[in-house]
Amino acid sequence: MLTLVFMFVFMFGEVAVLDNGLALRPPMGWMSWGYYMCSVDCDSNPNKCLNEKLILSVADTFYNDGYLDAGYEYIIIDDCWAEKERDKLGRLVPDHKRFPHGMKYIADYIHSRGLKFGMYTNVAEVTCMRYPGSKDHFYIDSKSFAEWGVDYIKVDGCFVGEEFLNTAYIKFGQHLNATGRPIVYSCSWPYYIEFIHKKTPNYDVVSHNCNMWRNFHDVVTSWPAIRTIITHYKESYDQVSPYHAPGQWNDPDMLILGTGSLTDNQSRVHIAVYVMLAAPLLLSCDMKKITDYEKQLLLNLDLIAIAQDSLGVMGKPYELQNSVTLWVKPHLPRKGDKYHSVSFALVNLQSESSSVSLTPGSYSLNSTDGYTVMDIFQRKFIRNVTLRDSISVEVPAEDVIIYTLFPL
Ligand SMILES: *[C@@H]1O[C@H](CO)[C@@H](O)[C@H](O)[C@H]1NC(C)=O
Ligand SMILES: *[C@@H]1O[C@H](CO)[C@@H](O)[C@H](O)[C@H]1NC(C)=O
Ligand SMILES: *[C@@H]1O[C@H](CO)[C@@H](O)[C@H](O)[C@H]1NC(C)=O
Ligand SMILES: *[C@@H]1O[C@H](CO)[C@@H](O)[C@H](O)[C@H]1NC(C)=O
Repeated sequence: MLTLVFMFVFMFGEVAVLDNGLALRPPMGWMSWGYYMCSVDCDSNPNKCLNEKLILSVADTFYNDGYLDAGYEYIIIDDCWAEKERDKLGRLVPDHKRFPHGMKYIADYIHSRGLKFGMYTNVAEVTCMRYPGSKDHFYIDSKSFAEWGVDYIKVDGCFVGEEFLNTAYIKFGQHLNATGRPIVYSCSWPYYIEFIHKKTPNYDVVSHNCNMWRNFHDVVTSWPAIRTIITHYKESYDQVSPYHAPGQWNDPDMLILGTGSLTDNQSRVHIAVYVMLAAPLLLSCDMKKITDYEKQLLLNLDLIAIAQDSLGVMGKPYELQNSVTLWVKPHLPRKGDKYHSVSFALVNLQSESSSVSLTPGSYSLNSTDGYTVMDIFQRKFIRNVTLRDSISVEVPAEDVIIYTLFPL
């Protein structure tokens, strides 16, 4: 009988809806994994070490250098933070050497700077890097995270079967909810369903249980990885975009600006496409290595405004001439509650420049009074257009142009 009830609930998707009121805009911040990975050997590599000093220094940089003001808010410790054994009460224990004051201390420091704190676990017995995982400990681990003052949790899905993933993520979310602490819930669930277990994720269930979810491979610090991510989200737009909305985001993984792996033009493409996707903007780098140009991109408030728009629409890709992709994202402000502003990103992933022309009216614009066009990277208004005018432009190699069209 119980099984029947459970099946009914499961099959008809009548699971508790995640309405924790969190992540109404795509989360912005910093996460350790992409650059620091499992950097635990701090004696031999003190400059690339996942420890308390690193986390507090990111908080200081966010606070002092304009990142917090621009919206970068969450500072998230990924895998490799724990001791290999739980304590006598079955609780996770932060590594004594690298996190000598524990996690509450870090949370308090981060909170005192007006920032938010994130952590990591896995639903299996061990994490992906074989530190203690949360299997059979969902209650006590959720309780620890809440007591430490965690505001965001990334929950990974290594080493377990498909059935287990499909129940564990729902249960873990219920335990988080029961703590009473608002905690953004980031699930790697659909990634494992699709790429490890070769099944189709049930995004209806995922989007009702998680604030955001990973559904493609981990980013690595290289341009080909960014190109692959961009192409993947272009190709899976129809499948994933219906679930993308305030409080429920597809997550293409971290930004790799600041890791010395991209040219300026490639950095521009990387951030531009994430902005058009309304993706979470989580940096992973040594903050001291961010170049002046990268900082200018990260703190470009016209760009951030598109990314953080409260409608939360995922931009739609269209294939134009010469292999240029046009991403179209409607957003606020609206004129008279009827006509949206819209951003167009013309993305050229090829190693030669390409010419394109487009007619704005073909891409769901409809204000017959026309639009005024702002070039987001040049930060200036360049022209006005009617619905029938055509815009012709040369997009340089591995580059992007973003125009925001505001209805006149
Ligand atoms: C727990 O879930 C309820 C019902 O969905 C929701 O109203 C509440 O805000 C959630 N609380 C937390 C702390 O997530
Ligand atoms: C990058 O873009 C700039 C200006 O848009 C251009 O002058 C430069 O040649 C480009 N660099 C590369 C490596 O494509
Ligand atoms: C203009 O287009 C937007 C987006 O497609 C739509 O929501 C709106 O209703 C349209 N306005 C009019 C007056 O047709
Ligand atoms: C666009 O139109 C507005 C309103 O008519 C006008 O004030 C503005 O100067 C025009 N901008 C350009 C670049 O022509």
